[in-house]
Amino acid sequence: MENRSLVTIADHSRQKIEYLLQMARQFELHPNRLLLQGRVVATLFFEPSTRTRLSFETAANRLGARVIGFADPKVTSGTKGETLKDTIMMVSNYADIIVMRHYLEGAARYASEIAPVPIINAGDGANQHPSQTMLDLYTIYQTQGTLDNLHIYLVGDLKYGRTVHSLLMAMRHFNPTFHFIAPEELAMPAHYKDYCRQHGIRYVEHQEFDAEVISGADILYMTRVQRERFTDLMEYERVKDRYLLKLPMLAQAKPTMKILHPLPRVNEIEYAIDDDPHAYYFQQARNGLFARQALICDALGITLEQIENDTTILS
Ligand code: NCD
Repeated sequence: MENRSLVTIADHSRQKIEYLLQMARQFELHPNRLLLQGRVVATLFFEPSTRTRLSFETAANRLGARVIGFADPKVTSGTKGETLKDTIMMVSNYADIIVMRHYLEGAARYASEIAPVPIINAGDGANQHPSQTMLDLYTIYQTQGTLDNLHIYLVGDLKYGRTVHSLLMAMRHFNPTFHFIAPEELAMPAHYKDYCRQHGIRYVEHQEFDAEVISGADILYMTRVQRERFTDLMEYERVKDRYLLKLPMLAQAKPTMKILHPLPRVNEIEYAIDDDPHAYYFQQARNGLFARQALICDALGITLEQIENDTTILS
């Protein structure tokens, strides 16, 4: 049987990404439908989440599916010693699809290899976060009118940030120029830079972060320093407040530049920026609903054509 799981965005061609974005557009036009009536979606979150879990669950609910799952593994048999394999096999008996976030890199790949139902990776450690990338791509397209030839500035924790790792891989189809702005301790890992070289992706690295450096950006993608991934909390303390985007830093920004952030924000964007026309992170989070509706449908084998001809639209 074809494996319809989504483990990494790197598996998707340009054509497939564009197809999923078209699906998401249909859901932005009409998010409430009964397309998934009778289906059960499981959300297994072994790590904290607000947006990702709630938008996946909203996505399922607005399409008429029912949702089971947990937001905190402490209430599961994992605390009694049950293995991930057993949990996945068991939940596969109950649900048609599993959305899973796990702290171990590779957990989603492993689950997709053993589960008889599709797995959607909702984040695996510092590795990948493909559903976030779909909403990021949707947002970039929405704000720039294209995904091609853009200058994308990634700022903050490029070492542990899974959202930037996924975005980098997805953008290989679209001839981007990346700027990596990070303290040395949190620089983009060497294997992602190798990936850039292998795929002809241009990148420039910076440590300074000021109005001049970001003046060429089409997208300024801010990230949180991933406290939970540090083994040395002293190191976290040293780097955590290194890059704070302040309003005057936008003085030379392109008028069309948009600031994205996967959220949660801690101390990366000052609140005064929220009302600035460059700020787009809350609209970005809203797009998570539509992108995740598309991903759930695609994993369940529902096509764009079916969605376009859907007669179950409620509003
Ligand atoms: C991100 C994540 O979990 O990787 N959050 C999210 O899904 N929107 C980013 C983060 O936690 O910093």
